[in-house]
Formats: sequence, structure tokens, C-alpha cells
Amino acid sequence: MEKTCKKIGVLTSGGDAPGMNCAIRAVTRLAIQKGLQVVGIYNGYDGLLKENFKELKERDVSSIMNHGGTMLYTSRSDRFKSTEGLEQAAEICRRHEIDGIVTIGGDGTFRGAADLVEHGVPCIGVPGTIDNDIAVTDATIGFDTAMSTVVELVDKIRDTCESHARCNVVEVMGRRAGDIAISSAIATGATAAVVREYRFDEDVLFEKMRKAKKNGKRNFIIIVSEGKGKHFGEALAEQIEAATGINSNFAKFAHVQRGGSPTLADRVLATRMGAAAVEELLAGNAKRVIALQNTKIVSVDIAESQLADAIMKNTATPEMFEKFSPEVIERCKARVAEVEAKKKQLYDLVDIMSL
Ligand code: F6P
Repeated sequence: MEKTCKKIGVLTSGGDAPGMNCAIRAVTRLAIQKGLQVVGIYNGYDGLLKENFKELKERDVSSIMNHGGTMLYTSRSDRFKSTEGLEQAAEICRRHEIDGIVTIGGDGTFRGAADLVEHGVPCIGVPGTIDNDIAVTDATIGFDTAMSTVVELVDKIRDTCESHARCNVVEVMGRRAGDIAISSAIATGATAAVVREYRFDEDVLFEKMRKAKKNGKRNFIIIVSEGKGKHFGEALAEQIEAATGINSNFAKFAHVQRGGSPTLADRVLATRMGAAAVEELLAGNAKRVIALQNTKIVSVDIAESQLADAIMKNTATPEMFEKFSPEVIERCKARVAEVEAKKKQLYDLVDIMSL
């Protein structure tokens, strides 16, 4: 079906993530090599509605790989979600002869892409979010960099905790997912990762800290995922101090985690995924999500990816299940079970490794 696709769009939407620029570059460079025209859609779906377009040539994506953020900018658009907005977006694509769009972002971006597909515009989703909360992929673009930032910051905090014999509770991002908290807790030797996914017994933690303190341990790091709710971390720091006598501080890393130069892993992942998205459009595929599964780049139907996400996030409704065959439902459940088992294994390691 090569050549039925002549012009493609590329946009980034939702929260930015380090590595998005590498994906934009990969989409642009491969598409140009394949003889396609590339339209950069600025400011996400909002920019699509405002026809905020600029043709991207090879040199327009030079020297952007090492920059965090997204050169195409990003937004969260409410107008796009309405039927009127979607119809208008599809009409704009037809008028500009855009044959398909690579949409880079998280689950909100994929919802937008799925809706746009329904209105006749082929879309390929590339998972770009620091949260790592897209069930069908082993890793999302930006996750590795965000964790590296957390590790760098925690290492610094630990130095001063050691000098002063203190504890520091730190809150990391991830929305409802505890992935950043769990892996960075392993990588920093934190005493605990406290995440929404698993029950947390503060008395067990306090006892562990009291014992370790008696045993000569001076620094304590507790990594809390933002999914635990507002002010949870601050309150926990106070409780720790009251229960253990260890002077405790709280730090929220917030948007620092979303910036900075992407790691090698994110640059390579984004390049592979961006290129794969163009291949999908060239193959005539209209509604896929690019994913990393067991080191391979694959693609999954957008609706199936959304079902897997809903199962993982416990938001799947009976009406959702009705739209899928038993095989697809089974495949999604198996995928989620695999992701959850891997996460639990990592979570258990945090505890085992910290004494
Ligand atoms: O989805 C990425 C993310 O950084 C989440 O980890 C966080 O909950 C959210 O975005 C913050 O969104 P905003 O940038 O709109 O404050």
C-alpha cells in the first residue's frame, strides 16, 4: 500500500517527556527517506484545531535529540474531545491532505488518537510519558530519564542524611503508577517504596527503621509515589520522626523529573518507536500503538491497548468488555498479569535489599 500515504503529521500531547524530541526526529527522518512529506503539528490537539502547522525537513529536527521537552510543544485540549472538535480536526486533516498522524504521548493522547481514527484519520500512538503506565509496553519514552533524575537527586539527599543522621521522605511522579518510585527505590537503596498499588504498613516500617538505627544506620530514604495522594509524604515524614526519633524531612521532586537531557535508553527507544510508527502508516495501518515487548518493537491495536490499560487501572466497565472477542480479553488480562508480576517482583526487592 506504499504511496497511498504521502503526507503525515506528527504531534506531542499531554505531559511532556524526555525523549519526545528523539521520536519526532525519527518520525521526520524516516518519513522523508521514504518520500513522505512531514507536517509538524504544534501544541498537540489544540494546535491541530488551530492549524498550527509547519512542514518539517531533515534539518528542522537537527540537534534536538539531547534536549528535554518537546520542540512541537504540548497541551491538553478540551475542545478536541467534543464531537464538533473531532469533526473539525478530521476536516482539517482532509483539507491539508494529511494521510495519517503519529501521536506521541500517554493514555490521554491515545484516547484522542482513537477518537480521531473513528472520524477517518489514521493514527499511530507512540508511548511518551514518564509514568510507564501504558500496559502493552515494557517501557514508555521518558521513564528511564525521569528515574535517572530521581536517582541523582536522592543520591544527593542521602549525602546530607548520612552526615546529619536523618531520614528524607521524597515524593516522585507517576500519576497512579508506582513504577518510578519502585525502580528508583531499588537503584538508590531506599528503605521503602510506598505506592498506591500495594498495602503499606507504617508500623512495620517504623520498627524496621528503629532496628536499623540501633544497628548503626544513619541515613534513611523513603520514596513515596504521588499516587498515594496529596500531603501523604509530608505526613509520613512527621509520623516517622514521632515514631522513631529520627529527624525527618520531606521533598517533592515534581516537574524536575519531566525535564533534562534524555538517557541513552530513552533516545534509542524513542528512535525505534518513531521509526516503527512511520512503517505502520506506510503499511496502511490506521489505529495502532507502538510498544516494546521483550526487547522487540511491536504494534498493538489502539482499542486493545486501551482495554489493557483499563484492566490494569481497574477502570474497565462491562460495556468495554462487550466490544472485544474473548481472545482479545484473555490476551489483555495475560499481559496485565505479566506486567503486575514484574512490578511486584521489583517491589519485593526494595524491601529485601534494605536492612
Ligand atoms: O503524566 C505525566 C505527569 O508528569 C504525571 O506524573 C503527573 O501526575 C502529571 O503529569 C502532572 O501533570 P501537569 O504537568 O499537568 O501538572
